[in-house]
Amino acid sequence: MTIKYENECLYFGDINIAELGKDHNTPFYLYSENLILQNLDRYLNQLKTIDSLICYSVKSNSNLSILSIFAKKGCGFDIVSGGELQRVILAKGNTNKVVFSGVGKTNEEIKFALESKILCFNVESFGELNRINQVASDLSTTANVSIRVNPEIDAKTHPYITTGLSENKFGVAQDDVLEIFLQAKKLSNIKITGIDYHIGSQITEIQPFTDAATKVSSVIAELRKNNILLNHVDIGGGLGINYSENVTVDCKPLVDSVVKIFENSNLKIIIEPGRSLVGNTGIIVTKVIDVKRNTNGKKFLIVDAGMNDLIRPPLYNAFHNIKEARIINRKKEKFDVVGPICETADFLGKDRDLATDSNELLVIEDVGAYGFVLASNYNSRPKIPEYIISSGLVKCIRARELFDDMIADEKKYL
Ligand SMILES: Cc1ncc(COP(=O)(O)O)c(C=O)c1O
Repeated sequence: MTIKYENECLYFGDINIAELGKDHNTPFYLYSENLILQNLDRYLNQLKTIDSLICYSVKSNSNLSILSIFAKKGCGFDIVSGGELQRVILAKGNTNKVVFSGVGKTNEEIKFALESKILCFNVESFGELNRINQVASDLSTTANVSIRVNPEIDAKTHPYITTGLSENKFGVAQDDVLEIFLQAKKLSNIKITGIDYHIGSQITEIQPFTDAATKVSSVIAELRKNNILLNHVDIGGGLGINYSENVTVDCKPLVDSVVKIFENSNLKIIIEPGRSLVGNTGIIVTKVIDVKRNTNGKKFLIVDAGMNDLIRPPLYNAFHNIKEARIINRKKEKFDVVGPICETADFLGKDRDLATDSNELLVIEDVGAYGFVLASNYNSRPKIPEYIISSGLVKCIRARELFDDMIADEKKYL
């Protein structure tokens, strides 16, 4: 994260946050286009000599302007709903480079994806395979499919974001993989194009990735013996970022080691990163509403952003660095940084050493992925705006939600 103090003021890129706060009401998200492009370039460089496609995982941050950055760079997209496909189309993404993941694709979504001529469906079950075949037959077309294998690998991440274990709902168990491919081969409106897997998110070790790739490469060899030939292997996303400055995460070792494992298979490599492309490219700027010091010694900073704006801390016990927007003449104290929502779970950080006061601004770092996309209107709080620093200017990419817009769909039934 290029966030640093200069003359006692916190800068995000070239933007002085305390100054920005003077004419932008808090709380708000702020992203950096430069950082997004830097992250993407690292992947592109790593993959430049390899037949490959980066499919940005839309779920991690689906703002149309963010999608358009990836579309302009020629990326593909990993989607999990018809809504995400509509977003890709609006952002002028190439639908021929879209892979459709997720366990619960409805027939309507399958139809829409077929009409949009996506690259392929990442199939999660026998039932889904048959439904895709049926919808494709109804449309007199053929559906390209990849089968998602569950490689039964422990990604060593938070249990809510691990996906590659047999107890998780994702993918086809290894024992059933040959069977589902053989079945797919018999279906008249299905064309087998690939195999895919995704073992989880915020993975900071390389071993789970290489273990999964090794397992899947042996599946590919077995398929070949059974005359099932593929065009691509999709290795999913999942690479973590450094939220707490005590892990080193980079796409180079991941790409190098996994590509090596699939080297002899002669397949195109698809990769579906989300967090590692956008996670460290966004901040939330929030204002201290009150400083609360209890007689028992417990201290709280009550800020204007809450768990409805960023749910990662309570949902995953996720850590986000929190910094003062400017250094003021106060000594550091240990605070819990909490929001205004009526839930004890409404915290953004616990036991943080901060020197601040009412009306001062704080910055919550690394919220570019799984931040705004998980926001809600809980406690009837309109969603906060999103801005991006692009060519040195702060541009609005989503306006603050108005109360009237928030209740419009209810009001008409009153
Ligand atoms: C199928 C699939 N692909 C890609 C991703 C993106 O993962 P990440 O943001 O960790 O890179 C996810 C997220 O969980 C996913 O479920």
